Amino acid sequence: MVTVTINVNGENRTASVSPETTLLRLLRENFLLTGSKLGCDVGDCGACTVIVDGKPINSCLMLAAQADGREVLTIEGLASMNRVHPLQKAFEDCASLQCGFCGPGVILSAKALLDEVPDPSVAQIRDALGGNLCRCTGYVKMIEAIQIAARDMRGETQEVNR
Ligand code: FES
Ligand code: FES
Repeated sequence: MVTVTINVNGENRTASVSPETTLLRLLRENFLLTGSKLGCDVGDCGACTVIVDGKPINSCLMLAAQADGREVLTIEGLASMNRVHPLQKAFEDCASLQCGFCGPGVILSAKALLDEVPDPSVAQIRDALGGNLCRCTGYVKMIEAIQIAARDMRGETQEVNR
């Protein structure tokens, strides 16, 4: 067993896990943060995307031990003080998700993009979502929501298309 301490959503949490335990399983099974989804388990779908030290990663491909001492943001930590993040609001306003399974990963990939690129082009948004598979939506409403959230985060007035 290895002892791992991670700052998850602003809180230090510790668990003892077997060396082969992935970050995804640590989050879901030890910390009961089940927003990050187990899809393919081999790095293809992006359903397990979380942000580690500011970068989006597939948590099914990172060992829990590799995350020791690092900062991890999951979808559960995105809202603050009971206020949803602009991305969450825009995804809801635009009805950007259908089954929702891909949603946490998509939104965290988008957050990582907007943290680096406040005014991304459609091509940059598409590129940022390149590792996130969605079998339901066709991505159009997601891209629209990310553009709306970006304007919101830049403090610009916007109209929300419902
Ligand atoms: Fe990690 Fe699919 S579950 S990429
Ligand atoms: Fe169903 Fe994306 S909304 S997989």
